[in-house]
Amino acid sequence: EVWNPNGKYRVVSTKSMPGTRWINLLIEQDCRLEICTEKKTILSVEDIIALIGDKCDGVIGQLTEDWGETLFAALSKAGGKAFSNMAVGYNNVDVNAANKYGVAVGNTPGVLTETTAELAASLSLAAARRIVEADEFMRAGLYDGWLPHLFVGNLLKGQTVGVIGAGRIGSAYARMMVEGFKMNLIYFDLYQSTRLEKFVTAYGQFLKANGEQPVTWKRASSMSEVLQEADVISLHPVLDKTTYHLINKESLATMKKEAILINCSRGPVVDEVALVEHLKQNPMFRVGLDVFEDEPYMKPGLGEMKNAIVVPHIASASKWTREGMATLAALNVLGKIKGYPVWHDPNR
Ligand code: DGY
Repeated sequence: EVWNPNGKYRVVSTKSMPGTRWINLLIEQDCRLEICTEKKTILSVEDIIALIGDKCDGVIGQLTEDWGETLFAALSKAGGKAFSNMAVGYNNVDVNAANKYGVAVGNTPGVLTETTAELAASLSLAAARRIVEADEFMRAGLYDGWLPHLFVGNLLKGQTVGVIGAGRIGSAYARMMVEGFKMNLIYFDLYQSTRLEKFVTAYGQFLKANGEQPVTWKRASSMSEVLQEADVISLHPVLDKTTYHLINKESLATMKKEAILINCSRGPVVDEVALVEHLKQNPMFRVGLDVFEDEPYMKPGLGEMKNAIVVPHIASASKWTREGMATLAALNVLGKIKGYPVWHDPNR
């Protein structure tokens, strides 16, 4: 699909993206925009090289693509100056290779913070109250009357929510769980989140002033402290060498038998094979997963586990957010082409 065929700058988007604002931004700024209409979901390096062609000023790409040495070399050869991932995460992008070939890299933070945190909160609730299992039971026609033991789950109020990685998304999630469900907070992050701490302190004081049990917070000195103490644990670190398989057989064994684990970050943060085994051995342990080690696949056995809720990487999938991500990605590419700073540059 081609927009503004006579535009001076050739920009390629490897996927169609929601909304029209990003399209308008590019064509108003003299870009010829080519949107790939290829039906297959994941484009190979060869597919993208063909899209880049001989002349290309910038590319908007997706987290499913492998933006390494080969693609940045091809983009640079075609005169390309900018690449933006339509994602906040950029573990699929080799930033060093981009630097080497003089291609600026952008990502799309900010607009997906609340949307992603909301999905983590939804999964936490769904797991605690066994909503998916109960829905399947109902649809299967198995409900034959109210029973005291039917789908008994956990009350979140007064329990402890554990957050690993209290950046933008982790902090937004923590606030939702503390304020929405009156949970106590324990978090681990390499940086101190003073805003989060001030918020929980102030909220605790508000509850106390209203005669309610105040919530508490604690900044853990290690990740294992969070794993041992929290009832619901949500993972929000970036994926890199240090966070690969952060959750593994050993760390799972330290968690409470009835804990809930949520992952809306990146699949490889969790050793999925170890997780399946843990779910089998501990039927009261529950997980809510938005991401998987080898997307789009799940490790064998995971799909059969009643104590797992699995959704297809939809944490940022609200209309407002996806349109915002597309707009930021366009601004990133446009900025570099036009000589302004890249809007969001993970290098900075
Ligand atoms: C991201 O942005 O990194 C998410 O995984 C997709 O929205």
